[in-house]
Amino acid sequence: MTSGEDRELLRHHGDVDAGPGLLDFAVNVRLDRPPAWLRDRLAGALDRLGHYPSAADEGAARAAAAARHGREADEVLPLAGAAEGFALLPSLRPRLAALVHPSFTEPELALRTADVEVTRVLLDADDGYRLRADAVPEQADLVVLGNPTNPTSVLHPAEEVRRLLRPGRVVVVDEAFADAVPAEPESLASTREPGLLVLRSLTKMWGLPGLRAGYALGAPDLLHRLSRHRPHWPVNALVLEAVAACCEPSALAESERAAAELDAHRAALAADLAAVPGVGVAEPARAPFLLLRVDDGEKVRAALRERGIAVRRGDTFPGLGPDHLRVAVRGAEQNSVLVEALRDLLGQG
Ligand SMILES: Cc1ncc(COP(=O)(O)O)c(C=O)c1O
Repeated sequence: MTSGEDRELLRHHGDVDAGPGLLDFAVNVRLDRPPAWLRDRLAGALDRLGHYPSAADEGAARAAAAARHGREADEVLPLAGAAEGFALLPSLRPRLAALVHPSFTEPELALRTADVEVTRVLLDADDGYRLRADAVPEQADLVVLGNPTNPTSVLHPAEEVRRLLRPGRVVVVDEAFADAVPAEPESLASTREPGLLVLRSLTKMWGLPGLRAGYALGAPDLLHRLSRHRPHWPVNALVLEAVAACCEPSALAESERAAAELDAHRAALAADLAAVPGVGVAEPARAPFLLLRVDDGEKVRAALRERGIAVRRGDTFPGLGPDHLRVAVRGAEQNSVLVEALRDLLGQG
């Protein structure tokens, strides 16, 4: 579990599977650049780079995120992406971290790199990769899971996630894709519980992977423990501006519209893919991507690539193998290119 090769696999992300000129189903970012209004907001903040990020800048970002989630400003911690939140987890000094898999691998990598003992809780394909809170070892004082989960696209019931809470345990819910689920029915972002830490990202919805912007939501003392080893001025003025801008009501309305569109595109894509002989689709799916199972997955991935289509390999996720592929949900036209290519490839036997 600690080999270099294993860590290399955990470090793999969809951006490596994508490539110039390829139709990108490997990376789950909705837009290829931020919308014009957000770009303008960021450009307007460039002059603020002439001074250190101020308490007022940070306060504005915290206040906006707090208002968006019905919380207090001191329950918000702006982050350089949700990924920074994972990197900070060792600061909580956990004794045993339970990682619920298959899931995004950065939390495990961050914890293992800091020599935290980790245990994997593997959810079962035959059970629809459903969360069973009882499967998490009682001694785990840190539990990390995604909701909705990358790469299975499963949305766990909030009630089942809450069952993980215990005195003396921190439960981290990676909600990097929560804003892509219309009305966010299972989000815990607004829930106040002493050991609950919710991580949110601006990356996917707003086309901002290059900025590194997100925030954590949790009790002030938990956020304080989490951030004790951060440098001074840990996030820059543009990140703070992005957090404030993307939490405003007009941005929320836009993201809710986008979520509804993604939802419809995903349902159509899942139905079309499931109708291709030889393609299994993990369902019910609620995120803007789908987990597929095909025989000879590696060959299929390579053949798609030859046809100019990039999909995400699944075998780097604990609990999955080479026959698993993850595909992003795009617009109807692009989705049909993927469906036709798979139909063609698998039809050739
Ligand atoms: C499930 C999940 N969580 C978190 C992240 C990281 O988000 P951020 O870009 O905010 O660091 C990703 C990025 O791929 C992800 O897929």
